[in-house]
Amino acid sequence: MTSTLSDGAVPRSAGPAPGEGREVTVAYETLLGETAAFFVRLGLPEGRARLAAEALCYGDLTGMDSHGVFNLARLYRPLLESGGADPAAEPLVLRDLGPCVVLDHRRALGLWAASEAMDLAAERAARCGIGLVSVRGATHFGCAGVHAKRAADRGMIGVVASNCGGQRIARPPLGAAALLGTNPLSVAAPAVEGRPFVLDMSTTVVPTGRVRTAARDGREAPEGWLTDDAGHPVRDAAAYDRGEAWLGWLGGTPATGAFKGFGLGLAVELLAAVLPGAATGPAPAALEGDGRPGGSDDDIGFLVLAIAPDALRDGFDGDARAMFGTVLDCPPQPGRGPVRYPGHPEAERAERRRASGVPLSGALHAELTALGLRLPLAPEEDR
Ligand SMILES: NC(=O)c1ccc[n+]([C@@H]2O[C@H](COP(=O)([O-])OP(=O)(O)OC[C@H]3O[C@@H](n4cnc5c(N)ncnc54)[C@H](O)[C@@H]3O)[C@@H](O)[C@H]2O)c1
Repeated sequence: MTSTLSDGAVPRSAGPAPGEGREVTVAYETLLGETAAFFVRLGLPEGRARLAAEALCYGDLTGMDSHGVFNLARLYRPLLESGGADPAAEPLVLRDLGPCVVLDHRRALGLWAASEAMDLAAERAARCGIGLVSVRGATHFGCAGVHAKRAADRGMIGVVASNCGGQRIARPPLGAAALLGTNPLSVAAPAVEGRPFVLDMSTTVVPTGRVRTAARDGREAPEGWLTDDAGHPVRDAAAYDRGEAWLGWLGGTPATGAFKGFGLGLAVELLAAVLPGAATGPAPAALEGDGRPGGSDDDIGFLVLAIAPDALRDGFDGDARAMFGTVLDCPPQPGRGPVRYPGHPEAERAERRRASGVPLSGALHAELTALGLRLPLAPEEDR
C-alpha cells in the first residue's frame, strides 16, 4: 500500500524539498509580487491574487514552510489548472442572519477566500460583537493562522478551522480505518504589541509535510508521530509514504493523550464541515475497502469566527497584554528558554525576514524560477 495523501504537502517523488541543496535568500516583497503575478497568470483577478500570495508567502515569512511557496507547483497550480479550484469563483451567500453567514465558496481558492471570509466575520463582529462565517464548497487555504490573524490585526479574537473535505489520513486511536484529515485549527488574538497570539496547528501530531521532510532529510520521526498497524511506534519517517505507518494525533499514544488530539480533530470536522454541510472524512465510504488513507479533498469546510472584545467589555486589550506579558516573563528552565507564546516566534521571524529576505532551498528557488517567477537573490550585505 502507498499513501500519497497530503494536507498541502507532497509525495516524495514530486520534486525538490525545502532544505535540499544550498540555501538562497530572496526579498520578501519580490517573492510576494512574483507569487501574485503567477496567480494572475493562472486566472485570478489581481486583488485576489495578491491576497492569495500573502496567505501563501506567510508560510515562508513565519517559518511554517510546509505550507508556503513549496506548495505552489505541487498543490495550487494543479488545483487551479485541473478545475479543482475555480480562479474566477464568486462565493455565494446561502444564508445571512446578520452575525452569522453561510457561504458556498464554489471552489474559490481557499488562500484568498478564507481571508475574505475572515474580513466578513470581522465586519459582522464590529456590528454585532460576534461574526461567524460558515463555509462549504471550499478549497485548500494553506496556513490557518494567516486568516485568523486578520482578526487579531483588528483588535479582535479570530478562530479558523478547516477540515480536509472527504480526505482521510489519520485513524482514530484504537481504530483500523482512516477517518479524518489533519484538520488545522487556529486561534489568534491581540497580545503584546506587534506580537499577536497565533496558535496555528494541525490536530494530528504534525502535518504530513513534516513527516515527508524528515524522510527526505534522512531524519527519524520522533516517537509519537507514527505507528504501525498494531499501534507500535515507527521511527522510520519514510515508512509513512510506503504505507507502513499511520500518522498519530496530538498527544501521542492513547496513554499520553491521543484522544484529546483526536477529539480536537473531530471537533474541527463538526464545526468546519458538518455545520455548513461540506464533505466529511467520516462517511460510509471510509469503512469500505481496507481502511487505508483515501478520499479526495473536494468540498472542504471552514469555520471562520471573529469576536470583538470591545463590544463585550472595556479593558480586554490591557488584560490580554498583561496576561501574555506574564508568559514572556516566565523564568526559563536551566539552560533553556526563552519562554514564548504561540505566534511570538513567528512574528519575530517575519519581522526579520521582511527586512533581510526569505530563505529558500536552492532546489525550491530553481523550481519557482522554472515556473516563471523572477527571484533575484537578496544582496549578501542585506542578509
Ligand atoms: N490547510 C490544511 O489542510 C492544513 C493542514 C494541517 C496543517 N496546516 C498548517 O500547517 C502549518 C504548520 O502546522 P504545525 O502543526 O506543524 O505547526 P507547528 O508545530 O509548527 O506549530 C504549532 C504551534 O506551536 C507554536 N510554537 C512553535 N514553537 C514555539 C515556541 N518556541 N514557543 C511558543 N510557541 C511555539 C506555534 O506558534 C504554533 O502556533 C500551520 O499553519 C497549519 O495551519 C494546514
